[in-house]
Amino acid sequence: MKKTILVVGATGMLGMPVARQLHKDGYTVRVLARNPENAKAKLGDSFDYVRGDVEDLSSLENALDGCFGVHINLRGGPKPEDFDRIEHRGSANIARVAKSKGVQRISYLSGAATFEENAWFPMVKAKLQAEKALRDSGVPCTIFCATHFMESLSLAVRGNRAMIIGKQPHPLHWLAASDYAEMVSRAFELPEAANKRLYIFGPRALTMSEALRTYCSIVHPGIKVSSVPVWVLSLIGKLSFNPEVQNIAELMKFFEKVGEGGDPSEANDLLGAPATTLEQWSREQRNTA
Ligand SMILES: NC(=O)c1ccc[n+]([C@@H]2O[C@H](COP(=O)([O-])OP(=O)(O)OC[C@H]3O[C@@H](n4cnc5c(N)ncnc54)[C@H](OP(=O)(O)O)[C@@H]3O)[C@@H](O)[C@H]2O)c1
Repeated sequence: MKKTILVVGATGMLGMPVARQLHKDGYTVRVLARNPENAKAKLGDSFDYVRGDVEDLSSLENALDGCFGVHINLRGGPKPEDFDRIEHRGSANIARVAKSKGVQRISYLSGAATFEENAWFPMVKAKLQAEKALRDSGVPCTIFCATHFMESLSLAVRGNRAMIIGKQPHPLHWLAASDYAEMVSRAFELPEAANKRLYIFGPRALTMSEALRTYCSIVHPGIKVSSVPVWVLSLIGKLSFNPEVQNIAELMKFFEKVGEGGDPSEANDLLGAPATTLEQWSREQRNTA
């Protein structure tokens, strides 16, 4: 019988490719969704849908019943306290219920800047606490400390402008979500991937500005890439009382200071190195647009 894996966050930008890859690789994929009708409209008929919320333990008991594994791809925020509520406590709820239901494997999307020295930043603190809750549960887990995803470049384009927020000086190994999804799926197959914290990086390092210019030259030729200081976005967020804009400003201030950390060689040896280049990925985006 096919093993069942629950995906939490399957409607999201990065959770969706994981759900699709797991299905392609032969798993029965169950989707935890706050709104299953919307989730089904996005993902289609190949998945089982369970209504639930990571803050609601009884919905997690229902969703995790009979599962071999669970993949967690949550987004906290936009307010600082939401990172703790959703990403830390939500993941801890999943881990606790997973243990009681005999789930054999958890995988979790953390980040390549998730280090104790960065715990002053609410998102990092919540991720560190989520990781600890997963480890403490005793369920074997694989933690993916992923660098910046190519998919997030599309979020910098609004109309006929592409915007870099802040100086963003750090070279980053841009990663395609499809490569990450394949690594997650492989990890569920491999006993050696249990209880590992793996850094995952794409093949080539480019600054945010270099990456956005490359992406735009292929997907949106003619679009102008400009940059805006972080304080301008911060001010817009404050004046408009928009927590999403304030959150992006805070994130960009953080990424201006902090680059990616860690060494991807263990992940590459175990799960295969991500190979999709930014140019290849951008051409795929252009061709499927
Ligand atoms: N972008 C990058 O370059 C990058 C790099 C490394 C790590 N990450 C991490 O990736 C994560 C964001 O992933 P994403 O871009 O895929 O996010 P996203 O598109 O915003 O999706 C978030 C998902 O979380 C679900 N969710 C939120 N609150 C929930 C709750 N209370 N109960 C159940 N489900 C809930 C959402 O479900 P609904 O459909 O119900 O809203 C949605 O499916 C963040 O943790 C970020 O730190 C991102």
